[in-house]
Amino acid sequence: MRHQELKQIAKWFLAAGVSDVTGEVSAVQRKSNRSIATLAELKESMMAVDISLKKCARNMVFGSGNEHAKVLLLGEAPGEEEDKQGIPFVGQSGQLLNTILAAVGFDRTMVYITNILPWRPPGNRTPTNQEIEVFRPYVLKHISLINPKVVVCLGGTATKSLLQTTQGIMQLRGKWTSVEGISAKILPTFHPAFLLRSPSQKKDAWHDFLEMAKEIRDE
Ligand code: URA
Repeated sequence: MRHQELKQIAKWFLAAGVSDVTGEVSAVQRKSNRSIATLAELKESMMAVDISLKKCARNMVFGSGNEHAKVLLLGEAPGEEEDKQGIPFVGQSGQLLNTILAAVGFDRTMVYITNILPWRPPGNRTPTNQEIEVFRPYVLKHISLINPKVVVCLGGTATKSLLQTTQGIMQLRGKWTSVEGISAKILPTFHPAFLLRSPSQKKDAWHDFLEMAKEIRDE
């Protein structure tokens, strides 16, 4: 798309009062032009994103774990406890995640964890499509900087966002897939919060994590 056309589209959004979108798009373009080369630069760049979402949040939740991990777990967005501590998956869902990891011989020092959104949506609401779009380029950059062998998508929102699909998690879970721009193999599975509500699905999630562990051991 030519520069002139992009400017027209940006103007159209501005005229429609969608200042968030135009602000974010230009921020992402500015940063990608500067070519982010480290996690510290990525974090700084994400901190600078001007989005109303962060006005309600206490801390940005960037990511945690082993920066050289072969496995990256991708969640949805911080909850209350994550927002307080600035660390992903430290609440109830995180405890279940730790248990699932332990069941397949892993722990938090062996994986890297981040989310689709770095800020807690007010009242834990589902991220909007607009918020997902704003942060997707950052998520892709985050994955490429960690450079894992496997990305496990936790839940429908993370899966839809990464794969840009409308298919639901029930259809996609447990099936290896890939996405343009990421060399890692991708495995969607259930979100731990869903498993807390629907314990009968734990069996399938455990199966998926076993697949992940097998993939890492076999490679
Ligand atoms: N749920 C998520 O998706 N991510 C977190 O960090 C915590 C809960």
